[in-house]
Formats: sequence, structure tokens, C-alpha cells
Amino acid sequence: MLSPDIENAMNTQIAAELYSSHLYLAMSAYCEEQALPRFAHWFRLQSDEEREHALKFLRHVVDRGGRVMLTGIDAPAVGLRQPQGRSSRRWRTR
Ligand SMILES: [Fe+2]
Repeated sequence: MLSPDIENAMNTQIAAELYSSHLYLAMSAYCEEQALPRFAHWFRLQSDEEREHALKFLRHVVDRGGRVMLTGIDAPAVGLRQPQGRSSRRWRTR
């Protein structure tokens, strides 16, 4: 059984991992918009990895008899700048 403090910390971490996944997914979508499929693919892989982290924490909480408390995921603040080596004409800042 998890102590309430540990359970709370694990749930906070699950939320952080899911937010990270969401942020990477937004970056992937942005790169898709910009016709940068390789960047988009890499960000998508990172998104998937962060989601896997969340699922591992989730599994741990469940296996220890704790309660998973999912929260809403904040919208990512996407204000991307161009990666080095790209023409600024092909990028915009949000
Ligand atoms: Fe992570």
C-alpha cells in the first residue's frame, strides 16, 4: 500500500508525464504543418515515450493498491522558433 504522500507524488508525476507527451505531440503537429516530417516523427516518438512513462507510473500505483487520479492536461504553450539552419521565411512564431 502506498502512503498518501507517495500516492499523491506518483499522481503528480503521471500528470507531468502526460503533459510532456502532450507538448511533444503539439511540437510534432507543428512540424507537420511546416513540412518537416523528420522532426515531426522524432517529436512523435518522444510523445509516445513520455506516455509510456506515465503508464509505468500508473501501473506501479495500481500494483501497490493505490488510486490513480488523472487530471486534465493543460494546453501546451507552443511558441516555437525555427531550428538552426532553416530559412526564417518558412517559419513563423506563434
Ligand atoms: Fe518522462
